[in-house]
Amino acid sequence: MKDFITVAIDGPAAAGKSTIAKKVAKILNFTYLDTGAMYRAVTYAVEKAGLNPEIEEESVKVLPGMTIDLKEDGTVLCNGEDVTKVIREPVVSSKVSYIAAMKPIRLALVDMQRALAAAKNVILDGRDIGTYVLPNADVKIFQTASVETRAKRRYDENLEKGIATTLEEIEESVRKRDYIDSHRDFAPLREAEDAVHLDTSNLNIDESVEAVLKIIVEKTGIEVPCH
Ligand code: DC
Repeated sequence: MKDFITVAIDGPAAAGKSTIAKKVAKILNFTYLDTGAMYRAVTYAVEKAGLNPEIEEESVKVLPGMTIDLKEDGTVLCNGEDVTKVIREPVVSSKVSYIAAMKPIRLALVDMQRALAAAKNVILDGRDIGTYVLPNADVKIFQTASVETRAKRRYDENLEKGIATTLEEIEESVRKRDYIDSHRDFAPLREAEDAVHLDTSNLNIDESVEAVLKIIVEKTGIEVPCH
């Protein structure tokens, strides 16, 4: 038996990865790391500094001394400021893929992610966790759903959070992000060869949670506490 178990959940935008990963982490008492929130926090910092998030030479200026804290309750702090809500706004969502395609920014965040994931039972969700950040993860899941399903889910989520958007805007933004994320040169969105493919188009949240738990049990033999 290994000391610690690492679970990587990758997949396209708005596939429900963070919702499912958070719930699974809670059931298993694992630490959950939302790596997308880190790219979003950098995007926010770039925009706040008045820099252009489509230009690497400008965007990297925010890196020195920058801190990102992911709290257990889901709060995200960027340089000490609570950015939990603002990083989900369209102004950040529409630019984050440009920031995520910049190698110096990825290298800085991947270092942080590996440090945060060390010596713990963890679940990370993102785009490159199984292929690049933790290539030796014990469990790799590629979670996806049709683009229409994903856009509708994100739309409902935004409504709940009070973020004003239309379904059409979200579908366009999801398609655009998927394209940029999977066509960047460095650590693009890609299914790891040894990942389990999980299509949640026809699964609700509880069913998706159970499907992920089943994969973790099959791969690691751990026991799932009553939930
Ligand atoms: O999961 P999310 O929508 O919050 O991710 C925001 C963006 O960050 C997404 O467009 C891709 C990028 N990302 C990435 O490139 N690598 C990760 N490990 C996580 C997110």
